[in-house]
Amino acid sequence: MSDATSPRTARLSVPGREPVELPILESTMGPGVIDVRGLYSATGLFTYDPGYTSTASCQSKITFIDGEKGILLHRGYRIEDLAEKCSYLEVCYLLLRGELPTRAQLDEFVHHITYHTMVHEQISYLFRGFRRDSHPMAVMIGVVGALSAFYYEDLDVDDPHQRMIVTHRLIAKVPTIAAMAYKYSVGQPFMYPRNDLDYASNFLHMMFAVPCEPYKVNPVMARALDKILILHADHEQNASTSTVRLVGSTGASPYAAIAAGIAALWGPAHGGANEAVLNMLKQIGSVSNIKSFLEKVKDKDSNTRLMGFGHRVYKNYDPRAAVLKKSADEVLAELGKKHNPLLEIAKELEKIALEDEYFVKRKLFPNVDFYSGIILEALGIPTRMFTAIFAMARTVGWIAQWNEMIEDPQQKIGRPRQLYVGERERPFVPIEARG
Ligand code: ACO
Repeated sequence: MSDATSPRTARLSVPGREPVELPILESTMGPGVIDVRGLYSATGLFTYDPGYTSTASCQSKITFIDGEKGILLHRGYRIEDLAEKCSYLEVCYLLLRGELPTRAQLDEFVHHITYHTMVHEQISYLFRGFRRDSHPMAVMIGVVGALSAFYYEDLDVDDPHQRMIVTHRLIAKVPTIAAMAYKYSVGQPFMYPRNDLDYASNFLHMMFAVPCEPYKVNPVMARALDKILILHADHEQNASTSTVRLVGSTGASPYAAIAAGIAALWGPAHGGANEAVLNMLKQIGSVSNIKSFLEKVKDKDSNTRLMGFGHRVYKNYDPRAAVLKKSADEVLAELGKKHNPLLEIAKELEKIALEDEYFVKRKLFPNVDFYSGIILEALGIPTRMFTAIFAMARTVGWIAQWNEMIEDPQQKIGRPRQLYVGERERPFVPIEARG
């Protein structure tokens, strides 16, 4: 989308005013947008859009979603191709730089990430302040936010070189912090990162190795995790990404902005759904209970949702869920866990839901969280770490979008308007006179 106004305009009639011509900005793919920036000065009115269901908050070149067709592109490349043919760090490079790397560019990028994986030793003491049973996402919000105390002085977000270092640090250190959160919860010593391992293998090592015996990373597990990371790397202006952009728009520390993104991701309506899906599948317990569970979901008074189903943008099958469904079968077979009762329940649940009028009418399909938990569990990852792994994967998306925002001359501090429906101005009442 360019800044130039296109020949298309939208005409708005407001009672008592001359009709207003609003420019329409054209996209390269997908719907254009009506540029309402001049609306208030022309009409004295704002727009009303709770949940931003119709509002574009920025222009972006990173990710494109066609929710009706179930298409997801990063920098123009299909997610299915990226998940099949790339490594996670290759996708990180693509998201950040706009092009797939050459071999030499990838090697250099991997080197930069690898040599930022350790955290300041002082960080390890921060963990002691948390209860052992703290949720890893709570710990991550705190510890990633605390990076802003370690890298604050002299940080100039307008300097591209400094932004690049911030970017490398975050992609490298968030997995270390996530693994430390897990180790702390089980009372095991923190494992330092190993720079001879690839990104996913290093994370598995930091999660599962102990100092007293050798740990050999299973390459099937590493590849499965790498694929999950790719599938979660970015998803345009979702709740957590918009949070990162909003916090970043104030000029705040990028480490604090990413911590805010982690907080937004934690909610069960967003990234917390992967944990909720697994708990739901366990609660259903067997295929024979699916029908009664779905009746509960359809009963609005029960306040029960089919977790891992539905999406604000996708009104078709989430292409990431399709990749993960296939991957779940492959990974479980390779790990010798072919007969997985949770996978059986999930597949049957999907089959019945996709034929049920309630879900068909509302265009509710499986989203990325529906199958990811089953794979993560097969890798031995505890349920409470699922969203932490999502946060780890999404860090690159957040930081790519943050960089894009800083470089965009049109971006301003994020500051929505409101429709005020409270009291009109009234005289103050002294406490003695209040009845
Ligand atoms: N189960 C049952 N009903 C649902 C579900 C669901 N999972 N999702 C939506 N609906 C129903 C709503 O009750 C509503 O019905 P109504 O029209 O009769 O009132 C209708 O479908 C539209 O739902 P909204 O909540 O208005 O849709 P919205 O776009 O605001 O929400 C969301 C999208 C939050 C993802 C929702 O589908 C949901 O809660 N899903 C379950 C949680 C989940 O899986 N979240 C992960 C999303 S992917 C991600 O963030 C990584």
